[in-house]
Amino acid sequence: MKIKMYEVREDEKKAIERVAEELGADVSISSNILTPQEAESLRGIDGVSILGRTTVNKELLDGLKKAGVGYVSTRTVGYNHMDVAYAAEVGIRLCNANYPPYGVAEFTIMLMLLALRKYKPAMWRQGVNDYSLSGLQGREIRNMTVGVMGTGKIGRAVIKDLGGFGCRILAYDPYPAEDLKNTVEYVDGDTLLRTSDIITLHIPLMESTRHMINREAIAKMKTGVVIINASRGELTDIEALTEGIETEKIGALAMDVFEDENGIYHESRINDIIRNRKMAYIRQFPNVVLTQHMAFYTDANTDSMVECGIRGIVEMKEKGSCASELHP
Ligand code: COI
Repeated sequence: MKIKMYEVREDEKKAIERVAEELGADVSISSNILTPQEAESLRGIDGVSILGRTTVNKELLDGLKKAGVGYVSTRTVGYNHMDVAYAAEVGIRLCNANYPPYGVAEFTIMLMLLALRKYKPAMWRQGVNDYSLSGLQGREIRNMTVGVMGTGKIGRAVIKDLGGFGCRILAYDPYPAEDLKNTVEYVDGDTLLRTSDIITLHIPLMESTRHMINREAIAKMKTGVVIINASRGELTDIEALTEGIETEKIGALAMDVFEDENGIYHESRINDIIRNRKMAYIRQFPNVVLTQHMAFYTDANTDSMVECGIRGIVEMKEKGSCASELHP
């Protein structure tokens, strides 16, 4: 079984060696993004594994098909970068990762605390020996109503972590989970928007959820609302968020993801002119925290992502299916 893994980071290499040996797979690696131009060189490879920066579109899938590659695994949970319908049409099988939700959930709580305790301007001041307190008064989660949008694996891990703070927790999900009904108050989307002091997004990106946090949604929110996004940037309309910050309707914003982050996040662009005006503008505000899509990035998750990436291909080919196979 021959597998080629793309977008491989240094810290993945040990796990790759271990899993490849355990599963008897012949794994080669590249730190590059997989492009359609590269597909031709993949003859003899059974499956490829990628992370979130490779776009698995029609062109790439056609190239892979031509080269005889039958399987693609993404070592990410989100799979909005893959054309699942077209892959099924050409007979290439896809799977995603199902690494544990705890790292992202903990990072989400950290973003809430950073925003509520005004840690970004506090850090700026520290750097220039300004130890004053004025303007840095924070708020406590325990006195707040937190609205969790999406109660899948990550949303429910966030809910569990929030349990220790003693806050009121509202949740919205088109498919409410029976076992959470004693822990959270399930409400409709509008009630969550209108009632929450903090809103945290744990919804997958699909056509129906793109820009779900838009002007109309923000208008329904409480003045001073805190919005947290560790899911996908495209869930929010950044123009609307920017207006919300400018008008002070939004009290604070913390986002681990950004629309059009591809080509910026997970790369050093320190000497470059970055052409993303929306990002450049919004990141200057003291009450806007941006992190570089790193909520997932823990030691435990790295191991699990590698394991999912290799095992998924091996199981699809050898056993006929794997637990996280993607179907249109
Ligand atoms: C995911 O697993 O969906 C992530 O957001 C992680 C990242 C490497 C793209």
